[in-house]
Amino acid sequence: MKFEDLRGILQYVPQFRERIFIIAFDGAVMRLPNFPSLLQDIAVLQSLSIQIALVFGARLQIQEMAAARGVKLSNDDGMGRTDQATLDISADAISRLTSELVADLTALELRVAVPNALAVHPAGVIDGVDFEHTGRIERVDERALMAMLRDGMIPVLPPLGYDSRGNTLRLNSDEIAVDVALELEAAKVIFVAEKGLFDSEETRIAQFSVADAREMLKRKDHGLDVSLLSKLRHGALACSEGVPRVHIVDGNLDEVLLAEVFSNEGVGTMIHADDYQQIRKAKSSDIPALLTMMRQSVEDAALAPRTKEQMQKMTGDFFVLELDGHAVGTVALHTYEMPDKTKAGELACLFVRRAHKNKGHGRKLVAYAEEIARQRGCAQVFLLSTQAFRFFEEKMGFVETSPEALPAVRREQYDKSGRNPRVLVKKL
Ligand SMILES: CC(C)(COP(=O)(O)OP(=O)(O)OC[C@H]1O[C@@H](n2cnc3c(N)ncnc32)[C@H](O)[C@@H]1OP(=O)(O)O)[C@@H](O)C(=O)NCCC(=O)NCCS
Repeated sequence: MKFEDLRGILQYVPQFRERIFIIAFDGAVMRLPNFPSLLQDIAVLQSLSIQIALVFGARLQIQEMAAARGVKLSNDDGMGRTDQATLDISADAISRLTSELVADLTALELRVAVPNALAVHPAGVIDGVDFEHTGRIERVDERALMAMLRDGMIPVLPPLGYDSRGNTLRLNSDEIAVDVALELEAAKVIFVAEKGLFDSEETRIAQFSVADAREMLKRKDHGLDVSLLSKLRHGALACSEGVPRVHIVDGNLDEVLLAEVFSNEGVGTMIHADDYQQIRKAKSSDIPALLTMMRQSVEDAALAPRTKEQMQKMTGDFFVLELDGHAVGTVALHTYEMPDKTKAGELACLFVRRAHKNKGHGRKLVAYAEEIARQRGCAQVFLLSTQAFRFFEEKMGFVETSPEALPAVRREQYDKSGRNPRVLVKKL
């Protein structure tokens, strides 16, 4: 691992220290060869002072036990009707899973407890159907859970609850994750599923706003199985109610939890309530970071060198692309008056961090600078480029022009610099 990567990872640690993550996995995930590595990830997160509560589902194990006993299930995910036979099987399968999980976590020297932290009531009659032993969460015992978390203990929450009359009720694990996250004001819910979320072209869906997630849920051709559908629905709900980030990750991937939490781009799908990716005006406090970020491109002669003082004078012309609060790219727009009194914008200092290239950020920054130019009344945008002229021509519709087309002051600097860049222009 490079030190640069380590720095990238460590930047997240203070942000998450003492914050709560709810990690919820499907019963099927507990069968994956990768499951021990997932538990090790949990141990690493906890060692970084992230407080973790675990939630798990048991659909696969309930289905298997029902098949072995020849029982027909009334429902297998805790959302539909749970008859007595289904409850009996669910209680057995969930008890076994609980004890396996506690044993596995204990073997990693993690302190765990299975609290009775959910007050539930029967779901009742829905659309004329009595849901019998299916429960809904009435209250989460925040005090009990917080006491455990503060004490460095991991609460494990099985998908069963007990009502005030002493009845056992079957719950849905995704619902538990959301309710607990909201009650504990968790920073994240991470759903670990058997697979990840992909679009129709088999490309990973890296992020969803709540609105996007809801849009997908409305579509008839979403192609999602029942488990992902439930995670997307509950994820959107959690975000809209105040959980800042919900992640859906594929439990088959190595170190999936660490990769998702400690990288800007992640490896799964993130649902976010706010604008997690934004382009904003640069502040003078950004300048040292921007200079460090651009150093390599200046050394490679892709960017013209700039001093701190030059950048400070023109801070208002610089814009920063932020992912999760970290600067990953920049662009500047300087405005000039042309001899015919029209205005022209110069797009400069376009840069995207190496680790974030080829994700559309460069195009987004150029489009943003063009929009700023329009707002500032520019009729055209020009730029000087030594190594990225093809990018501007092929991806952004710029055309090459001669240095004579530059405003006089820029022409003078162009002649003096000796960098010999190409000059490109785009009419707005
Ligand atoms: C040029 C730069 C900003 C592009 O950023 P990015 O976030 O990777 O760009 P996008 O993801 O929007 O676009 C990537 C596409 O542009 C292409 N591309 C990137 N740099 C290119 C270049 N120098 N020449 C030709 N094509 C290029 C990629 O191959 C990719 O093509 P594809 O979509 O067909 O696969 C980035 O590579 C960079 O910071 N370069 C170093 C600094 C620099 O040269 N800045 C320009 C100063 S004028």
